[in-house]
Amino acid sequence: MTRRPNMMIHKTEAEIALMKESATLVSKTLTEVAKVLKPGMTTMQIDKLCAEFVKDHKAVPSFYQYRGYPHNVCASVNDVVVHGFPNDTPLKEGDIVSIDMGVILNGWHGDHAYTFILGDVSAEVLQLVRVTKESLYKGIEKAVVNNRVGDIAYAIQEHTEGKHGYGVVRELVGHGLGRNMHEDPQVPNYGKRGTGPKLKENLVLAIEPMINMGTREVYTEDDGWTIRTADGKPSVHFEHDVCIRRNKALILSDYSIIEAAEKANGHLNTSYYHPAAVSA
Ligand code: MF3
Ligand code: CO
Repeated sequence: MTRRPNMMIHKTEAEIALMKESATLVSKTLTEVAKVLKPGMTTMQIDKLCAEFVKDHKAVPSFYQYRGYPHNVCASVNDVVVHGFPNDTPLKEGDIVSIDMGVILNGWHGDHAYTFILGDVSAEVLQLVRVTKESLYKGIEKAVVNNRVGDIAYAIQEHTEGKHGYGVVRELVGHGLGRNMHEDPQVPNYGKRGTGPKLKENLVLAIEPMINMGTREVYTEDDGWTIRTADGKPSVHFEHDVCIRRNKALILSDYSIIEAAEKANGHLNTSYYHPAAVSA
């Protein structure tokens, strides 16, 4: 493959404000999911709900027909790492479901993801979800001016693979975000400190750890999209859109509204918010 020159696009303040609207619309959409998600629902119902909500807000779902992707959201259940097709199989108690969703609003992309837990799961699964979410924030802590992409990557890898022995998927990475869903640089979830492109103010990144309980190896199903863990063990995916700043990254997406709805839902397990409950 021909290597195109590195084209990192730094946004103006006005553009960052627009990108915050795009990212927040995704957060609001995922909040609608968090309100209604429960065992018995299908991921196809979630797809419809998300697409309608986005269209009602003067935006378009960006995944639909992106490189031929046939749905509006990615719904990745249990051992599906990412890019799962929504389907008509009812979700059941004990499933973990990552919903990844993108929009274009005013010409700017938002793209982020959240993993929900339906009811009772093992302490092992709770820990995987908690540690993956924590690793996203460890990465974001490094997303500041004059650091390098490798600093983010290392922080995520260290917390997941280093501390907990989890599998960090190598085949898929985070990315720059803007007028296009995928811009430079690539943002791997593994790497060495002090390596890779240098981060400058107002670069926007989608940081998205994809962390497996077992082996890091994955395979793609015959549908050409669905990525699963090679050992069938669960995988977790969280994604935030963040803007590089001098001392502390500005997180453009918003988990607080998703988490509030998740806690109020009654069918979703949020016990991992209190690490003492899942220390096993
Ligand atoms: N968050 C994923 C990514 O950044 C979503 C892409 S799925 C696709 O690559 F269907 F749109 F390709
Ligand atoms: Co993404």
